[in-house]
Amino acid sequence: MNLRFTSYTEARELGLLCSLVFGALLFSISAACAQLTLKEAFANTFRIGAALNPSQFSEENAEAVALIKSQFNSITPENILKWEAVHPKPDTFDFGPADSYVAFGEKYKMFIIGHTLVWHNQTPKWVFEDAQGTPLTRDALLERLHDHISKIVGRYKGKIRGWDVVNEAVDDNGNLRRSGWLRIIGEDYLVKAYEFAHEADPHVELYYNDYELEKEAKRKGVIALVKKLQAAGIQIAAVGNQAHYKLESPKLEQTDTVITELSKLGVKVNITELDINVLPAPGQFSGAEVSQLFEPAKGLDPYPNGLPDEIQQKLAKRYADLFSLFLKHRSSITRVTFWGVTDGDSWLNYFPVRGRTNYPLLFDRKGKPKPAYDAVIRLAPQQNQSK
Ligand code: G3I
Repeated sequence: MNLRFTSYTEARELGLLCSLVFGALLFSISAACAQLTLKEAFANTFRIGAALNPSQFSEENAEAVALIKSQFNSITPENILKWEAVHPKPDTFDFGPADSYVAFGEKYKMFIIGHTLVWHNQTPKWVFEDAQGTPLTRDALLERLHDHISKIVGRYKGKIRGWDVVNEAVDDNGNLRRSGWLRIIGEDYLVKAYEFAHEADPHVELYYNDYELEKEAKRKGVIALVKKLQAAGIQIAAVGNQAHYKLESPKLEQTDTVITELSKLGVKVNITELDINVLPAPGQFSGAEVSQLFEPAKGLDPYPNGLPDEIQQKLAKRYADLFSLFLKHRSSITRVTFWGVTDGDSWLNYFPVRGRTNYPLLFDRKGKPKPAYDAVIRLAPQQNQSK
């Protein structure tokens, strides 16, 4: 285009006009971004989920409900569907909290996840024994597993859309964990669990969920397990990469490898329990193995009155880097779920050391978005920004 100006003033005026138009455009784009919530910002990429506890889905706290329904479109129950909670005694099922969780999800049109049917943790000792305390036979334990899965999956058939059928069945060395399930039933407890879940709800998505998949031995063990399940005819919809991360680890390249390698199995790779621990680890602790608990000690709770700005910025960058990576793998990921809503809700305030003040999520203790939230929203794919 060839523009001719008769005077310097005319040219300057046009320049001014252009800056005004450009400025207004920028303003309207950033205003649109500012209004976007997480689920809106990533609407065309993946679902954004949160793990909930009873105080949230019972709706006793209206502010928490408002935050959850505006920001998230998927929910996972943090504890209430685990065996000890939903099936505390041989003939006692406690469906109250689970019914209320599912009702909450239906009311707010969430993609509802079930967590978890088979785990070595939060499973009562009686599950593996008869009334006299003698270990069950393989057949008796299989019958108990069938009864548990068919009652729970059957009750929420068509409402819960995906189940973490088996959680954390692989140990650090990549071998099957020596749980009561493995010892009494043998390796095929895994195939059976998925078959029972499919039988109870043929349309529900079946997942395998685990942590520290960035460690090669463990990842190889999980890959071998998924291949065995697939060879037995089980349709695994997704592997859940829990993603209980720290500020510095795992490295982005490691998470990149996890997603790349697992997706080669023909499954989705969902991020199922995302949080970023900003506190120092006690002694030799590593991972998310919940049996390790440490006593409070000097230096382990450095930010009781607020997170220093420098760490806040590091957390924002860490979240931005991770979400950039998730976006790069958007064709493999259908859901990114945070393990909690606000910092105050997080299990990391009482694990692996009781009574600390941690800051692992995108919302502070008052439910206000943190700089990490803004950093994540800024990455929202272009097509959503004009909504
Ligand atoms: O329900 C009891 C309550 O009656 C008692 O008064 C209280 C006293 O400590 O404990 C309550 O149980 C706690 C339970 O959470 C419910 O709040 C347990 O002590 C506590 O150990 C348990 O922690 C849960 C942990 O799993 C246990 O395995 C966390 O909240 C939960 O966030 C965590 O979630 C797991 C995922 O399911 C699987 N992946 C790892 C992730 C983090 O560990």
